[in-house]
Amino acid sequence: MTGPVEVPVAPLLEVRNLAAGYGDIRAVWDVSLTVHPGKLTAILGRNGAGKTSTLRVIAGLTKIGGGSISFREEDISGLQTHRRVVKGMALVQDGKRVFHRLTVEENLFLGGYTLGIRRRKMPAHLTRIYDMFPALGERRRVVVGQLSGGQQQMVAIGQALMAEPSLLMLDEPSGGLAPAIVDEVMSILVNLKKAGMGVLLVEQQVEAAIEVADHVVVLEIGRVILDSPAREIVDLDVLKEAYFGKARVTNESSDNDGPR
Ligand SMILES: Nc1ncnc2c1ncn2[C@@H]1O[C@H](COP(=O)(O)OP(=O)(O)OP(=O)(O)O)[C@@H](O)[C@H]1O
Ligand SMILES: [Mg+2]
Repeated sequence: MTGPVEVPVAPLLEVRNLAAGYGDIRAVWDVSLTVHPGKLTAILGRNGAGKTSTLRVIAGLTKIGGGSISFREEDISGLQTHRRVVKGMALVQDGKRVFHRLTVEENLFLGGYTLGIRRRKMPAHLTRIYDMFPALGERRRVVVGQLSGGQQQMVAIGQALMAEPSLLMLDEPSGGLAPAIVDEVMSILVNLKKAGMGVLLVEQQVEAAIEVADHVVVLEIGRVILDSPAREIVDLDVLKEAYFGKARVTNESSDNDGPR
């Protein structure tokens, strides 16, 4: 094989054999994945595969049931969410959780406040976010409910970036957005990578995710069924087969080999 030789760098996030659930429901059985600084790992998988649960456990919002989570080579599995935030983790939850009746700036301020930023430090952080997203700077006094879906997603990402995380996790940031806007969101992620941030992206948009990903993990019923460098996924059909299931690409249903 030819190609660039990658210098080994200590992973930012290392998840090993993660398990978690809700009461008797096991949502995550065995998930292992790694995110390196300046790289993007994409988690793909069908509805209910355990993608959101995996992010929630990493962020400390859902209790870990087994396995380990290392962040900057430190086991953080027992830490509360806000301690993980202080260490540099951020999560943009699904569904653009922004305050529609508040302005862009109020949303960013509240995001920063929730993440523990002191009032006097707020202006510097706001300036940093506006430098990154000039569209938000221009609309700082606009009520978020009046913004486009893409701009609202930018606000949600901006909120998470207020605390200058080294790992940004996003749960379907392209959800409900038009294709051109999805590209815009993805290019934001590419810029964050270039700035050295590690990104863990959950997506339903397979093509868009693969384009920006360095590594791809596909989940099925709480387990990893594909784990591959993005550049080695040359045949998207193979991935889609894993992603959508065999029934979707063949007419023969007899060779389905797992529970649906
Ligand atoms: N709060 C909850 N209480 C009980 N069961 C839950 C809860 N959240 C998720 N589950 C279950 O856990 C499993 C994994 O769900 P999860 O939301 O992690 O999947 P997902 O891959 O994010 O799905 P989607 O693509 O629909 O967002 C599913 O069977 C789901 O029904
Ligand atoms: Mg989900």
